[in-house]
Amino acid sequence: MTYSIALAGKGGTGKTTTAGMLVKYLVERGKTPVLAVDADANANLNEVLGLEEGETLGDAREDMKTGVSPGMTKDVYMEMKLQEAIVESKGFDLIVMGRPEGSGCYCAANTLLTQYLEKLMNNYRCLVIDNEAGMEHISRLTTNNIDVLLVVSDATRRGLQAANRIVELADALKLNIARKVVMVNRTREGQSEALDEALSQYNLDFIGTVPEDSEVQQFDLEGRPTVELPNENGAVQAAYRIFDKIAQ
Ligand SMILES: Nc1ncnc2c1ncn2[C@@H]1O[C@H](COP(=O)(O)OP(=O)(O)OP(=O)(O)O)[C@@H](O)[C@H]1O
Ligand SMILES: [Mg+2]
Repeated sequence: MTYSIALAGKGGTGKTTTAGMLVKYLVERGKTPVLAVDADANANLNEVLGLEEGETLGDAREDMKTGVSPGMTKDVYMEMKLQEAIVESKGFDLIVMGRPEGSGCYCAANTLLTQYLEKLMNNYRCLVIDNEAGMEHISRLTTNNIDVLLVVSDATRRGLQAANRIVELADALKLNIARKVVMVNRTREGQSEALDEALSQYNLDFIGTVPEDSEVQQFDLEGRPTVELPNENGAVQAAYRIFDKIAQ
């Protein structure tokens, strides 16, 4: 059984950074192979993972509408395209969804894409899905069960409110998610009391905080992959304590 963790949250809270740390954690714990799925139309998980951007599944779908060579069936072609879109690394692979089809698209290409993606996922021990802000992308993956929805909030009241809305929306949509948890990223010293107070307004499964960290920022600025952060880094250690609570 594939263990899947999907990230969600308001814009810029640290979903992609956290996804990178989670992939690093799972690989180090030997929970391999891991498939990292970039479900953000504005894909950048590859940078955090230190990988080149490959062809996206959206590209594959568009190609399939137009470019299937004679003598090749659509499903053989799709399987080939899907294989091409997988970027391989040590202990983990990356697949980039790319631009989504307009909502309500039931075209054959989309159906095939979903089928192959599901088949592909079964080859992995763990799945880490980095989403864009909002929930649409999660509903695209409902056919596959999600074990943990990890909502990343910033240390603000409005951030927590947004996190709470995401959890409520996931509840309302009756998405197939076993556990919905919230973490707070980029906390600063002296905030814990106010944060506890703000958290007490909501009935959230809160699993910890990650501090604001200058090295994380420095890596980002210099274009160095998050997965290369040293394990002594305070943010990495805090994130790992959170992952200990959700990883199986
Ligand atoms: N703990 C941290 N300490 C310092 N900087 C951080 C921390 N976590 C994330 N950042 C920085 O915050 C910025 C936003 O992070 P990230 O891209 O991971 O957010 P996101 O939620 O994926 O954003 P988007 O909604 O645009 O996809 C980045 O510059 C990242 O380096
Ligand atoms: Mg992101």
